[in-house]
Amino acid sequence: MSRVILTLMTLIPGLLLQAQVKVSVHETAADQPRIPAEIYGQFSEHLGRCIYEGIWVGPDSDIPNIDGYRTDVLNALRDLSVPVLRWPGGCFADEYHWMDGIGPRENRPQMVNNNWGGTVEDNSFGTHEFLNLCEMLGTQPYISGNVGSGTVEELAKWVEYMTAEEGTMADLRAANGRKEPWKVKYLGVGNESWGCGGDMDAEYYADVYKRYALYARNYDGNKLFKIACGASEDDYKWTKTVMKKAGGRLNGLSLHYYTVPGWDCDKGSATDFTADEYYNTLTRTAGVEEILRNHIAIMDSYDPDRKVALILDEWGTWYEVEPGFIEGHLYQQNTMRDAMVAAINLNIFHKYTNRLKMCNIAQVVNVLHSMILTDGPRMLLTPTYYIFKMFKVHQDATYVPVSYSPGSITSTSGASMENFSISASRDKNDVLHVSMANPYLDREQKVTLSFDELKPKGVSAQILKADGINAYNDFGKAPSVSPAAFYGAKVSGKTLTLTLPPASVVVLEVK
Ligand code: AHR
Repeated sequence: MSRVILTLMTLIPGLLLQAQVKVSVHETAADQPRIPAEIYGQFSEHLGRCIYEGIWVGPDSDIPNIDGYRTDVLNALRDLSVPVLRWPGGCFADEYHWMDGIGPRENRPQMVNNNWGGTVEDNSFGTHEFLNLCEMLGTQPYISGNVGSGTVEELAKWVEYMTAEEGTMADLRAANGRKEPWKVKYLGVGNESWGCGGDMDAEYYADVYKRYALYARNYDGNKLFKIACGASEDDYKWTKTVMKKAGGRLNGLSLHYYTVPGWDCDKGSATDFTADEYYNTLTRTAGVEEILRNHIAIMDSYDPDRKVALILDEWGTWYEVEPGFIEGHLYQQNTMRDAMVAAINLNIFHKYTNRLKMCNIAQVVNVLHSMILTDGPRMLLTPTYYIFKMFKVHQDATYVPVSYSPGSITSTSGASMENFSISASRDKNDVLHVSMANPYLDREQKVTLSFDELKPKGVSAQILKADGINAYNDFGKAPSVSPAAFYGAKVSGKTLTLTLPPASVVVLEVK
């Protein structure tokens, strides 16, 4: 019986299984913020196979590489236009001693990666390897300094080593093969200092921050942008305290928000999940908007001129480790659900860029919400990679506000979200891009976009969708999820209409 009804509903589009949304696009709105490219930042941590195998295989590897960096991953990251890359952690950063990772590789000491599976770290990927990678990718480095188990002197010398033209540290750098200093703008002063980064309370951390930040100097025209450790999720007390005590001494304050689908931190499988779990994941991820708003309101009360940036330097989905992989390596697959999560988040982030200046999804290769997965010599691009690629048109573009009256979806967790996700921007060539996602699994969504003045001359579009929400790209198989041209957008005067299939993401280019 229910199958018959379902079939009928599917056959009558526009009736039960079609949602509709009418959107006004205010492309004539003046004084809109730029969407910083850094919203599309990535995070590389010494965790599992992110650095080793994922990025670095060493120059002697059989896996094709350029100076030790695997060629396939380099090329994929180049295509993504990664604006900023955070390193070396995460929790790893607060046990990392940078001097162990310089000089001839065969002389570098080993350490145990206590946070992530007790794996032996041979330090073959260190400061030179990371900063050279950033240069090869045209990416800004974001160095996460060790405050938890390091010293003020150690961090001060690291900054000097990387950025000074002359002096003892510059001489050491030159002796290690690099005469010219690198440009390093972003410096994180501790990571999760309330937890794995030192177990501090906010009052104490604010003082510690000031001390570390004071001695991290600007050398020879290199201007640091110092980022204090911020809160996790809704820890508003942390934000208040750090802003109150140290707000005048920092350029950025971080925030971490992970999407864990289940109640009580029940992560569930990355690939084997129900429709309920899907909606729980999406409502949880959309909850980032309220978290951003609340932290921004606190920051506004201490910093009304918005001099301090909010930096969401860890975000993404977090599931159970894939069966058969080391627990502490946090390796997970990536499905169409993760693509939906990425699209919804990016559309939200665009709205807050007058305070939110950088976001770093965790982690770029082989860990949580990754762009790329590798298996020995094999590499694949995840559905999330394609979202970042489709959305990169928003990098450095001018935000274009939209207005609409969304419906809502409530998941079994009790949380709600808008039943439609959208964002628009105008690039430097005056081309308008609109990114949209339809979160429904069981209904398409008819979208009508009405422009203030624009009468589009043409539109082209790309779509990401899959046969099932659990679909993922697997090694040795043709990709199940990859973008395709979308021909369903129709222009009529100042209006554009299209119908988004269930669980799909579309990016329009409107001329
Ligand atoms: O991304 C994994 C870990 O999550 C990071 O190392 C840490 O900062 C956070 O707790």
